[in-house]
Amino acid sequence: MSAQTSFYSLLFVTLFAFVISNRKVTTEIKKCDYYNDTRCDNLSIAHISAEGDSDALHYLVTSLGMPTVLVAKTDPGADVTIDWEKLLSQNDTVRKNAITITKKKYSFSVMFTKLIDYNDTKDTADMTKYDATSTVWNIYDLKDFVWANLSEVSDTADNTVTLKASSSSVINPIPWMNNGTFSIKLNAFGSHGREDQLPHMQYNENLTQFDLTIDDLGTNLVNSRFGVEVLIVGENNEAMIVNSTKSIDDEYSPGVFLIYNWYTRLTTLDTGFLQWKPVCYQALARARDAATGMKYYQLQNASQSNQDDLMNTIAYAYFTDMASTNIKAQNFSFGIGKDGGYNKAKVITWSGSIGHGKPPEDSVSVVVLIIILAGLGVPVLIIIFGGVYVCIKKRRRNTARQLVSVQSNGYQPLHGDQ
Ligand SMILES: *[C@@H]1O[C@H](CO)[C@@H](O)[C@H](O)[C@H]1NC(C)=O
Ligand SMILES: *[C@@H]1O[C@H](CO)[C@@H](O)[C@H](O)[C@H]1NC(C)=O
Ligand SMILES: *[C@@H]1O[C@H](CO)[C@@H](O)[C@H](O)[C@H]1NC(C)=O
Ligand SMILES: *[C@@H]1O[C@H](CO)[C@@H](O)[C@H](O)[C@H]1NC(C)=O
Ligand SMILES: *[C@@H]1O[C@H](CO)[C@@H](O)[C@H](O)[C@H]1NC(C)=O
Ligand SMILES: *[C@@H]1O[C@H](CO)[C@@H](O)[C@H](O)[C@H]1NC(C)=O
Ligand SMILES: *[C@@H]1O[C@H](CO)[C@@H](O)[C@H](O)[C@H]1NC(C)=O
Ligand SMILES: *[C@@H]1O[C@H](CO)[C@@H](O)[C@H](O)[C@H]1NC(C)=O
Ligand SMILES: *[C@@H]1O[C@H](CO)[C@@H](O)[C@H](O)[C@H]1NC(C)=O
Ligand SMILES: *[C@@H]1O[C@H](CO)[C@@H](O)[C@H](O)[C@H]1NC(C)=O
Repeated sequence: MSAQTSFYSLLFVTLFAFVISNRKVTTEIKKCDYYNDTRCDNLSIAHISAEGDSDALHYLVTSLGMPTVLVAKTDPGADVTIDWEKLLSQNDTVRKNAITITKKKYSFSVMFTKLIDYNDTKDTADMTKYDATSTVWNIYDLKDFVWANLSEVSDTADNTVTLKASSSSVINPIPWMNNGTFSIKLNAFGSHGREDQLPHMQYNENLTQFDLTIDDLGTNLVNSRFGVEVLIVGENNEAMIVNSTKSIDDEYSPGVFLIYNWYTRLTTLDTGFLQWKPVCYQALARARDAATGMKYYQLQNASQSNQDDLMNTIAYAYFTDMASTNIKAQNFSFGIGKDGGYNKAKVITWSGSIGHGKPPEDSVSVVVLIIILAGLGVPVLIIIFGGVYVCIKKRRRNTARQLVSVQSNGYQPLHGDQ
């Protein structure tokens, strides 16, 4: 049967892919070693390297400037160099080229720029329903948050790097009044699989997953809802798009029918991407009954404040010519109308992934295939073999009986009469 052969070929392809496209993933936290600057005190950049046979992916993760993930695809054996003295310079010209990556083929950078808290008086969970004055907004620049020492909150052995903030360097006590935290945890993998927790996103050797967690941040708004603004810099000035693919409503993420991909360029196999499912959770321990929806808004050109903030990031220190890059910003907001809003649980968790190449797509899982095979294949087999068996038996019996009848009384019985 063709379903069966396709099942085996799928299994084969899966095993094959597992064997040949593994990458060796290692994480190193590079500590700032320019001791003449107090900004160096708790500053580091995590370097996740995912080396394959024919190419490598390098991720630089830091809170310097704002939470940033710089991704570079290179030939194998590239060198990543950080000149901390240049990087911390106040001189824009000196800061250029503070970060160099050799053998580079394509690169892009994802930055989390703002955390937005707004009063959703209409309970529609749609930020476009309000302008600057029609509701109360608390917009926090993530560059002002104070980030924990990376080595204290990351697990390099597990290739997990966490950017965690629990206070703000500007006078802004509201988010921190409950001693809450805001964090972005990145996790890189050497092969493919599915995340244990909901929404069980697929991962592979060409991406890192991120979990964004708003845990007990304070708000002064009765109908508070949160959102984030994300900025992507693509190496060349090429169009970016957000595209969606259908997700199968299977056992992994019930009720979630779409997967979104924000592509940094339109070259399918050589693009950067940010992938997410439009679902977030009002609980730290994710569960189906804590799931709620979310919304994304149109891609925008970077605002002047985005561009100013960018100057102090590793992206600026890496891309030699910012003028030839493409920079786009996008807002995401968490929740849907009537879900109780942020104050219901004071927790939001959301996941996505940042990677290079073809983003994972949901295909029918092996479990579902087995169920389909069992559900469709077995009855079909029963019908076919049952039919054949009945026919053979009947024909045999009829032949035997015909002989008997002809011999005993000279007439042929109609079949089935006994
Ligand atoms: C360290 O900083 C001080 C004060 O800014 C400066 O005078 C000194 O030259 C610096 N030293 C180095 C090695 O850069
Ligand atoms: C660095 O971290 C230590 C301990 O976590 C803290 O006391 C100190 O203020 C931090 N320094 C800076 C410049 O953030
Ligand atoms: C971060 O913490 C580790 C462990 O406490 C310490 O060794 C390291 O010096 C700190 N890093 C920075 C950049 O201060
Ligand atoms: C910045 O550095 C460049 C190159 O070293 C130098 O020419 C320029 O004068 C510096 N600018 C300032 C304001 O110091
Ligand atoms: C926050 O932490 C501080 C210091 O540990 C403590 O005094 C305060 O009571 C805490 N606030 C809340 C709301 O838990
Ligand atoms: C990962 O990228 C490599 C090329 O860099 C490609 O050969 C491989 O198929 C990709 N893996 C997946 C799971 O897409
Ligand atoms: C937010 O909206 C709610 C409901 O409309 C309203 O009661 C409240 O006064 C508004 N403002 C703040 C600061 O919560
Ligand atoms: C966008 O999505 C559609 C439908 O899934 C797909 O056919 C198309 O190739 C996608 N475009 C890009 C650039 O990936
Ligand atoms: C965004 O920037 C591009 C190129 O700089 C420009 O052509 C376009 O009109 C801008 N879009 C908006 C909405 O300003
Ligand atoms: C995101 O929303 C905030 C608040 O409305 C707004 O200031 C900002 O321009 C938006 N950013 C984008 C990329 O739409």
